Amino acid sequence: MQPPASSASVARRTGRFITLEGPDGAGKTLQAQRLVEALEARGLHVRSTREPGGTALGERVRSILLSADGPPISPRADALLFNAARAQLVAEVIRPALEAGTIVVGARHADSTLAYQGYGAGVPLAELRALADVALGDLRPDRTILLDLPVEVGLGRKTADGVTRFEASFDVAFHQRVRDGFLALAAAEPERWVVIDAAAPADDVAAGVLEAALAIL
Ligand code: TYD
Repeated sequence: MQPPASSASVARRTGRFITLEGPDGAGKTLQAQRLVEALEARGLHVRSTREPGGTALGERVRSILLSADGPPISPRADALLFNAARAQLVAEVIRPALEAGTIVVGARHADSTLAYQGYGAGVPLAELRALADVALGDLRPDRTILLDLPVEVGLGRKTADGVTRFEASFDVAFHQRVRDGFLALAAAEPERWVVIDAAAPADDVAAGVLEAALAIL
């Protein structure tokens, strides 16, 4: 029989995968950073990732996907490229970290493909789910936090030099479908998702995000 473990060693052995999702301009990057800091301040071991990106291959794919002056990319090609970057991130970073008992905080993950390429651009969700199975195997987030806010508020927060292809070439109706898509995904799986009003002051959002994360740790 194993000796009883201290709570610190239990935390080290139990990896958890927490993802932050939401429309453009919802503040995922800032809130992911704040969540990592808050968890580390509690003595937990945390690794953060961003998508697309987070590996040498993924960052190259990111520059193809997001540059506003690159070649046209069809929604299915988008879905394949986001999943290619994701497969590498899962193999190289996320799985090994979870196996080592680390908490992984991901700024965007597979639900972004369902929302943007699925609800936004019209690729059937069943096809996207099949692609995700290839990229992810059985990996699923333990908790997904949706930073939700009105489309005009999110797009209005972006500065001109931070504009990606998605903000530059897709209209407000596209972004509205993305937001509605995220809300539909959250409603369909309420045990995994927590929806937070991202139009609230950043400190309130951070407190909500931390509470949603701690609830599964
Ligand atoms: P990024 O600058 O990382 O935006 P944010 O800080 O809001 O995450 O740009 C990522 C863009 O790529 C964003 O417009 C959403 C889009 N995207 C997809 O269309 N599909 C995906 O699977 C992912 C991960 C992102």
